[in-house]
Amino acid sequence: MKRVFSGIQPTGTLHLGNYLGAIKQWVELQNKVDESIFCIVDLHAITVSRDPKLSDQILNVAAWYLACGVDLSKSKIFVQSMRPEHTELAWILNCFSTMGELGRMTQYKEKSEGKRDAVSVGLFDYPILMAADILLYQATDVPVGDDQKQHVELARDLAIRLNNKYQGVFTVPEPIIRDDVQRIKGLDDPEKKMAKSASSEYNYIAFSDSAEIIRKKISRAVTDSGSEIVVRDDKPAMTNLLNIFSGISGRNIKSLETDFRGVGYGDFKKALAEEIILFLEPKQSRFKEIIADKDKLRKILINGAESVEPIAQKTLAKVKSKIGLGI
Ligand code: TYM
Repeated sequence: MKRVFSGIQPTGTLHLGNYLGAIKQWVELQNKVDESIFCIVDLHAITVSRDPKLSDQILNVAAWYLACGVDLSKSKIFVQSMRPEHTELAWILNCFSTMGELGRMTQYKEKSEGKRDAVSVGLFDYPILMAADILLYQATDVPVGDDQKQHVELARDLAIRLNNKYQGVFTVPEPIIRDDVQRIKGLDDPEKKMAKSASSEYNYIAFSDSAEIIRKKISRAVTDSGSEIVVRDDKPAMTNLLNIFSGISGRNIKSLETDFRGVGYGDFKKALAEEIILFLEPKQSRFKEIIADKDKLRKILINGAESVEPIAQKTLAKVKSKIGLGI
């Protein structure tokens, strides 16, 4: 039995990194596995931001899932905070994790750098909640971008730890990471990942960007020295732009390199911008239709939360009885 689980935080705006690292794989995997569950992880969002418009953001992310091709006849979508089992399991897992292993998490180290005493306990504990998300549904496959690999590995470690102690508690999950788009980089800095928290909007292409903005952002994207359009270690900017081109068009890197041989950076960027526009426009119109009927979207999310309840309850009951909680 293969069950996919993944999620995205409803903070900021979704961008091409989220699509290429995560959603693209979800849409492909949902046709290949027995069950897929995609979550909007609002409890993770409050570790860093308390956006008064969080509920709107949640609905937007749900609408983007559907607009990008998450198919409700194959997959379930729901909001993390609507299933209390996540936080309950997270507490239990807290008691089986060490301060040392959480302190070693790269994302925590980066986000808390220079202000360790001021960041929330939630930010520190975030990977445990993520482990709870995954283990609660006995997920076999967790499609994520490379930046989340370490967190999925912690979920694996915890699953193995509890299985060794209590036998047969959790399925040990596998991270599913595409080799080609491991980490989409910022357009303004190809050394750092494309991120919704970036300080400049020239870092990312948002799902909602207009054609005009996409052309502007791509034309300003950082390039490498020289003029070759190739994927190579000494060409981080071109590697990133070609990865994006390939990821959204489905064309392989080799054929893109051949087609753009001798072409200048400017013309390549124009072609890339048009490709992104072509890719995003149908999704943007689907998004508009879906978000226009918020009541329908709310019903989908309520049904989603109800439909995953039996799996969540079953795991939680098993964990509690193995540990000896309750009477
Ligand atoms: P989040 O919301 O930061 O990102 C959502 C997904 O997008 C991927 N991603 C990228 N992939 C490639 N290149 C990039 N530049 C890029 N930026 C983001 C992320 O790897 C992720 O797959 N903790 C998670 C959410 C989460 C989760 C889970 C995921 C909570 N519980 C359980 C899987 C399973 C996060 O903050 O992702």
